[in-house]
Amino acid sequence: MLSKFDLVVVNGLVVTASDISSFDIGIKDGKIHTLAPSFSSEDIGDAQVIDAEGAMVMPGGIDAHVHLCQDQKTDIGGGKCADNFETGSRSAVCGGTTTMVTFATQTRVEEDRSLLKVVEAYDARAQATGSYIDYAFHIIIVRDDKDVLEEELPVLVEKWGITSCKVFMTYETMRLQDYQLLDVMLAALKNSITTMIHAENGDMIEWLTQKLESKGMMAPYFHALSRPPSVEGEAANRAIVLAELIENPILFVHVGSSASANVIRAAQTRGLPVFAETCPQYLNLTWEDLKRFHSPTCFENSKMICSPPPSPDSSDQDALYIGLHNGTFTIFSSDHCPFKYDDPHGKMVGILDHEPSAATDGVPLTELAHKKVGRFSLIPNGIPGVETRLPLLFTRGVSTGRITPQKFVELTATNPAKLYGLYPRKGAILPGSDADLVIWHPEGALTSFKLTNEHLHHNVDYTPYEGMEFGNWPRYTICRGKVMWANDVLLGKPRDGQYLKRGPNQLGKGVAHFKKDPRRVAAWVHE
Ligand SMILES: *[C@@H]1O[C@H](CO)[C@@H](O)[C@H](O)[C@H]1NC(C)=O
Ligand SMILES: *[C@@H]1O[C@H](CO)[C@@H](O)[C@H](O)[C@H]1NC(C)=O
Repeated sequence: MLSKFDLVVVNGLVVTASDISSFDIGIKDGKIHTLAPSFSSEDIGDAQVIDAEGAMVMPGGIDAHVHLCQDQKTDIGGGKCADNFETGSRSAVCGGTTTMVTFATQTRVEEDRSLLKVVEAYDARAQATGSYIDYAFHIIIVRDDKDVLEEELPVLVEKWGITSCKVFMTYETMRLQDYQLLDVMLAALKNSITTMIHAENGDMIEWLTQKLESKGMMAPYFHALSRPPSVEGEAANRAIVLAELIENPILFVHVGSSASANVIRAAQTRGLPVFAETCPQYLNLTWEDLKRFHSPTCFENSKMICSPPPSPDSSDQDALYIGLHNGTFTIFSSDHCPFKYDDPHGKMVGILDHEPSAATDGVPLTELAHKKVGRFSLIPNGIPGVETRLPLLFTRGVSTGRITPQKFVELTATNPAKLYGLYPRKGAILPGSDADLVIWHPEGALTSFKLTNEHLHHNVDYTPYEGMEFGNWPRYTICRGKVMWANDVLLGKPRDGQYLKRGPNQLGKGVAHFKKDPRRVAAWVHE
């Protein structure tokens, strides 16, 4: 019998950012078509059927912080990004993610002055391999060329639907000074572009790094000591003060410490449009993990290096969970930033660039690594995690009862869609929304297992969560009505994903701008 649907999902416990309820979902032409208490066999007809067997069905994950095809050429060393659009999106979809936002990056070289050219070149890299899942771009801005900001930002919004930019307060080759931050923020504000901020105090890091190195403290572990939590807290506070001056909505990416979460919370309490993101690594890793392998001075600890580093101990993690629960954190993203370990263009740069002679006698790199500690300031920063993001928060947040399933959906799908202008096409289960779904295993159906890197589908030779217990994992991932991942089998194709043009931030401008305060700079500076 002909069905009015292409695909139906039955017997699911459907979870949205607000509700949990059992109903069936009918999908037609890649969109959610009908929600019903339960379909009759007539309704179902010849449609493809997925029986969720009572498991949770959620909007597909939206990972708003993914680095792909983005080599690192900064003062923190040079590394080759291990994932392209094909391998990164493949990993994402096998972990329940159906949309990702990646970064087109301006650099300080003259050819990169034009943001439009940067985006076109980056788009070509995406087109070269295609993506399994839908994707959009943020733009990273590292210079404040007034003509470029004025002429090109409107085109980025109009033509590309790029409605978010990212700026850095650290890394010599990327950071903006305070007056430059104000320039970029004001230009962004005029175009309804949300400013994303990497908040770390670059001067403190540089000073601490020099002090550590002068004492011979160079092993990977000392990377964390070069960035104590106050480095992040100070920068977050400064960025809030700058943004408040012109009433610009900002989002703090990868918040890793309570020092930063607390100042963000205080700003939110004052009614400012301040949003925040945290990531899996800050919930599970601590300074102890940075010295986990072999010996405290082993190079293998470089596998855990990312910035900001995980916090000193689990007390900060408790604060981050509170922040996930109480709304301080708007979104939960992976900050997938993949570098291979056993690779002369990956983490090993931290040895090879430090001691160029080290590689010459044909000693395999890993063997070399066990005898050397390298130099943390040269190690490419970043860890992979696009595939483990949802299962990690599900296992450690939802299954433990720290956050509700609805909060999980809000943080991993609905809020990213609203913040970055994709809602309700994405991040929702509503008639007319894209049929992007993640379906978990029914409770108790999957015996908890220890993760190994072989489970994963990225192009990286390790996972920082090796050996970690997972209690659940996405059983099905559906993108625009197509089943992409089912029972541990990848079914999609690298050209199934489409580029997404985005609209403005839908989470509001905060209430501060209603104030009638004669000291309000924003009242005149926008003219
Ligand atoms: C919410 O969480 C943040 C971050 O941990 C914390 O600073 C704040 O005190 C919490 N607020 C409440 C009311 O619990
Ligand atoms: C991280 O995960 C491991 C493995 O599941 C667990 O033993 C450890 O307690 C976790 N660490 C924190 C700080 O949550």
